[in-house]
Amino acid sequence: MSQITEIAPDFFKISTFVPEFNIQFNQFLVMDEEPLLYHTGMKGLFSTVKEVVAKLIDPTSIRWIGFSHFEADECGALKEWQRIAPNATAICSLVSKLVSVDDVVAERPARALDDGEVFITGKFRFKFLQTPHVPHAWDAGHLFEEHSGILLCSDLFHQNGDVEAVTNSDVVSRFKETLIEYQTGPFANYLPYTSKTEQMLNSLAALKPRVIAPMHGSTYVGDGEAALFGLAQVMKEVLAAPA
Ligand SMILES: [Fe+2]
Ligand SMILES: [Fe+2]
Repeated sequence: MSQITEIAPDFFKISTFVPEFNIQFNQFLVMDEEPLLYHTGMKGLFSTVKEVVAKLIDPTSIRWIGFSHFEADECGALKEWQRIAPNATAICSLVSKLVSVDDVVAERPARALDDGEVFITGKFRFKFLQTPHVPHAWDAGHLFEEHSGILLCSDLFHQNGDVEAVTNSDVVSRFKETLIEYQTGPFANYLPYTSKTEQMLNSLAALKPRVIAPMHGSTYVGDGEAALFGLAQVMKEVLAAPA
């Protein structure tokens, strides 16, 4: 049911397709001195994801659990993970920690990352960017791994369907199709487009990612800067257009 793909050495994608919603939920497992799981998935996915993680690493050895923002698919199973992994600590923005995570979903206090802070797990170096309301939610942020050029981009580049694990082809068009589809149903206005959206997307583009790793859909390998500029254009076109 779940697929494991090594998107860079010791950097694994775990993908589970849920046909009822026509959507993939992706977690990323970083094998390092201090192993990191990025996105827990919802509580309902916990046993599935744990089984898949166990094929790669002892699940109880997870040291860090990261996510972009407070939402079930991002951190819903945090408590379940922390109950089996005694040293697992959440990493998130200060807003996330103070406003939701510590009170609602964490078994023990999260570690807050400052905007621009570099977080090291061993051989991997993650830069944290605080990006309120990008992709959505006040507490949102992004992690960028500096050596591999991987941007963990959460709901940005969301592509519906049971798509391939990794692609070099156009993910911006697929993202646009998903946004347009959502605009016609209960998930309309999935992502906000504010006066600060473009500036924040530009700051992500300035990282010049070589790999774009969304939570929903294919991981894109290619010119991440151009892809982010394309994504910004699509968001403006679809989400900022007058109703
Ligand atoms: Fe989200
Ligand atoms: Fe999501």
